[in-house]
Amino acid sequence: MAFMFLRETVAAYKERDPAARSSLEVLLCYPGLHAVVWHKLSHWLWTHKLYLLGRFSSHLARWLTGIEIHPAAKLGRRLVIDHGMGVVIGETAEVGDDCYLYHQVTLGTARAMGGKRHPTIGNNVIIGAGAKVLGPFTVGDNARIGSNAVVVDPVPPDTTVVGIPARPVDRKLPRREAPFDPYGMPCEDALDPLLRDLESMRTELTELEARIARVANGAESRPRQTAAE
Ligand SMILES: CC(C)(COP(=O)(O)OP(=O)(O)OC[C@H]1O[C@@H](n2cnc3c(N)ncnc32)[C@H](O)[C@@H]1OP(=O)(O)O)[C@@H](O)C(=O)NCCC(=O)NCCS
Repeated sequence: MAFMFLRETVAAYKERDPAARSSLEVLLCYPGLHAVVWHKLSHWLWTHKLYLLGRFSSHLARWLTGIEIHPAAKLGRRLVIDHGMGVVIGETAEVGDDCYLYHQVTLGTARAMGGKRHPTIGNNVIIGAGAKVLGPFTVGDNARIGSNAVVVDPVPPDTTVVGIPARPVDRKLPRREAPFDPYGMPCEDALDPLLRDLESMRTELTELEARIARVANGAESRPRQTAAE
């Protein structure tokens, strides 16, 4: 069972990270793998009511890997945490199978309250570097969260969200046809959709102001009023 877990997780790294050249390299040099393996132990201690030992075990893992996973968090199979440094996974977070997390991802909460307060991540979800997913909502299967996004609302399945607060973007390819692109980065002029709308409103406003100035100077005739106006 433990061997099977290790084998399929190492295979997931090799399959999805172009930098991973051999199983031995993954075993020795991937803190994400070490953190997830260590979490097995911490989680076992926690579920057997050895709470302090569980916390201490996860603290040691954090110390060694830079990845903080609460021992109560539930992680699915073949989870890849690439680079890993600064990842935080909260107590009531749940992560599905085949997910891919980059460094500095937080599965956290925006409010100090008891009970379920961290997100539930579906299967095959990619969460880009620096993204924060805050609250007890669901991120659907096959969703993608752009790097540095701040997600505060549920994300439907097969949806890409980017920006602060994160909003859906149109996907150019249906998910199944899109190849997994571990380093998929936005093009140079990429903007949050909200900023893009603001930018186009600002351009329109500038054009209107210029036109009003021309009309006021008599350089352009006033637009004719309709009867309704
Ligand atoms: C969001 C992401 C997963 C790509 O998802 P995708 O479904 O393939 O989306 P696309 O690349 O087709 O981009 C969709 C749109 O969102 C924009 N976009 C993508 N990522 C974005 C981001 N992080 N922030 C803002 N906008 C972004 C793109 O420019 C594109 O805009 P357009 O439709 O106007 O051209 C990817 O861009 C991303 O952020 N990956 C994480 C990469 C990462 O963390 N790498 C660390 C390596 S060390």
